[in-house]
Amino acid sequence: MAQRGKFIVFEGLDGSGKSTQLKMLEDELRAQGRTIHRTAEPTGGDVGRAIRRALSGDEPRTTAQLAALFLADRIEHNAEIAAHLDAGEDVICDRYFYSSMAYQGPLTDPDWVADMNRRCPAIAKPDLCVFLDVDYRKCKARLDAGRDKLEIYERDLSFMESTRSAFLAVFRRYESEDRIVIVDADRELDAVAADILAAVQKIL
Ligand code: TYD
Repeated sequence: MAQRGKFIVFEGLDGSGKSTQLKMLEDELRAQGRTIHRTAEPTGGDVGRAIRRALSGDEPRTTAQLAALFLADRIEHNAEIAAHLDAGEDVICDRYFYSSMAYQGPLTDPDWVADMNRRCPAIAKPDLCVFLDVDYRKCKARLDAGRDKLEIYERDLSFMESTRSAFLAVFRRYESEDRIVIVDADRELDAVAADILAAVQKIL
């Protein structure tokens, strides 16, 4: 039987350059001969699509509803993630439960959001979380320049600032239980990629 793959998640504010760094890591690991399954949350499934409609502002939901939808989407997603890990593939996921804790936690009840995600038997804990830390003003400027229509969490600069603080508080809270690396992503792409790779190599 194949050795179980590694489960790596990327987190960061909207506009922090997650997709670019995710792709760079994917290419590098493939070049090393590893098999990679790249995925993201919200997913493209039924629940994920309902989440997207809410994030667009077209079908508003309460934050508690959103937290529950993200949870349901994640439970479904975990079946796919587990299948790839079991097959010996590494799974790299754009966002995971740290996003629920940072975005929905402060707007509802942080312990409720953390518990329902972290204590759910159908939701795996990642082997590594990479947080791309970029100045929230830069993230906002990138979003404003690159998108025609902003999603609900991308519209307000002060919300982005408080989300960054929420992420950092979550990481402080779980630093002894989880493996989390905070990367200064306000630098040249290759320098950021090198730091991410160094953190990933430690768990391979
Ligand atoms: P994002 O990765 O930014 O997708 P895209 O760049 O394609 O728009 O994620 C979409 C939004 O979903 C983002 O604003 C963060 C939010 N989100 C949560 O609020 N909670 C969650 O649990 C997850 C996974 C995402």
